[in-house]
Amino acid sequence: MDPPQAVHLGPRRKRPRQLGTSVASTPHDIRFRDLVLFILEKRMGTTRRAFLMELARRKGFRVENELSDSVTHIVAENNSGSDVLEWLQVQNIKASSELELLDVSWLIECMGAGKPVEMTGRHQLVVRTSSPSPALGSQNIPPPTVQKISQYACQRRTTLSSNYNQVFTDAFEILAENYEFRENEGSCLTFMRAASVLKSLPFPITSMRDTEGIPCLGEKVKCVIEGIIEDGESSEVKAVLDDERYKSFKLFTSVFGVGLKTAEKWFRMGFRTLSKVKSDKSLVFTRMQKAGFLYYEDLISCVSRAEAEAVSVLVKEAVAAFLPDALVTVTGGFRRGKMMGHDVDFLITSPEATEEEEQQLLHKVTDLWKQRGLLLYCDHIESTFEKFKLPSRKVDALDHFQKCFLILKLHHQRVDGDGSSQQEGKDWKAIRVDLVLCPYERRAFALLGWTGSRQFERDLRRYATHEQKMMLDNHALYDKTKRVFLEAESEEDIFAHLGLDYIEPWERNA
Ligand code: CTP
Ligand code: MN
Ligand code: MN
Repeated sequence: MDPPQAVHLGPRRKRPRQLGTSVASTPHDIRFRDLVLFILEKRMGTTRRAFLMELARRKGFRVENELSDSVTHIVAENNSGSDVLEWLQVQNIKASSELELLDVSWLIECMGAGKPVEMTGRHQLVVRTSSPSPALGSQNIPPPTVQKISQYACQRRTTLSSNYNQVFTDAFEILAENYEFRENEGSCLTFMRAASVLKSLPFPITSMRDTEGIPCLGEKVKCVIEGIIEDGESSEVKAVLDDERYKSFKLFTSVFGVGLKTAEKWFRMGFRTLSKVKSDKSLVFTRMQKAGFLYYEDLISCVSRAEAEAVSVLVKEAVAAFLPDALVTVTGGFRRGKMMGHDVDFLITSPEATEEEEQQLLHKVTDLWKQRGLLLYCDHIESTFEKFKLPSRKVDALDHFQKCFLILKLHHQRVDGDGSSQQEGKDWKAIRVDLVLCPYERRAFALLGWTGSRQFERDLRRYATHEQKMMLDNHALYDKTKRVFLEAESEEDIFAHLGLDYIEPWERNA
């Protein structure tokens, strides 16, 4: 995917001058002569790239403005190794096998250390071959077809492209949602787990014999499968889709800020449409619900990947204006490779910031957007994080990091330079954005926790508790047997602590 080329930021936007390329020519002594760096602008942005180039030069690194044969290390952000190779190909540059492709985290660590740090697996960008085969490490592992399917989503690889059982999983998700609306948590979970396990199956179910040996398929679930195999549809699902309560709850909860309690209240009061709810004089709406109604059409139309990329540029620029060393990572569904989302989620962390700088960052960022007229809704949640708090026992517990739930105004990207192709009237779309800020040493836990999917997270915690006697949440991992907190620099470290094979983000679509 190409980065957005022309995000319209409004007339007040100015590039911080001191970060311009003019400064880049200031001579610095080169201390590390074996390395020649090139920093890729794609998905990083001009401002942050200029900042990092200047910083690296100040620390004695040789950084080239242009890519040339002398470059030994390419540093990129939010790009896979394949992305970088593809970019090189487009530039008509042949990559030699000695060229190092590295994630920006390596450079940031070098800056912290004041010298080149060792390049490990977590820094090196992965180049995927065309047919990724699942990692079958040991010779004792049977071939995939007879491999036992785990009851835990964190021991399965669930990609987006290969759901052979969508007829069943769609049905289960509707039934689960209906149980959720009726606050029947047990049955809701039963059907969500069943949907999740079928999503990971490498074959379609065509007869009841195919369901043998698959975990998480109880009597109730098998009944629905049987119905669909026999009639092509499920009578239970049909009944739910026709149900007044289900239809009303679905409609009401589609408004940002409306949860089960409010939906229940409106339903009991006899409301069945949003226009009746909106025009009722006796109802009092929260600030969130008011925004939900105001931007309703935009918010129910999903966020595309291109829009997510454009928001990502906005977030990175704003964060870099206050904390240039901060790492901003897209999490949630977009990190799992989804093409659409209901919002865009970000994790922000800084290796250098003081506690105070950290505490103020999100406020400064939202103030900046407010000044620019881009902030349509903002809800700050202050941090309740404590260093030695044990991870929560609850599978669905909320985390303690500072965060904000936002609605941002994203201007449409110009199709051509002069703007004449802009349609009349509204030239922007309201987009839901979540920003989470975590202490640098907790970034791996926060990243794992905010990447999802929800089902994957639930099963990670369930697995930690029941199979390892450990406690995991978005902040930490605690070993109850040894009574120690287990530290992690990367998601790979956490999987390793848990004794799990590493599952890539795009395989976590459980
Ligand atoms: N999450 C969390 N605490 C919250 C909200 C979310 O830990 N208060 C985590 C969940 O694990 C979830 C992830 O953050 O998987 C992203 O949440 P969300 O945006 O709701 O879901 P997505 O998977 O991104 O899906 P969508 O495309 O609908 O946004
Ligand atoms: Mn999301
Ligand atoms: Mn979210």
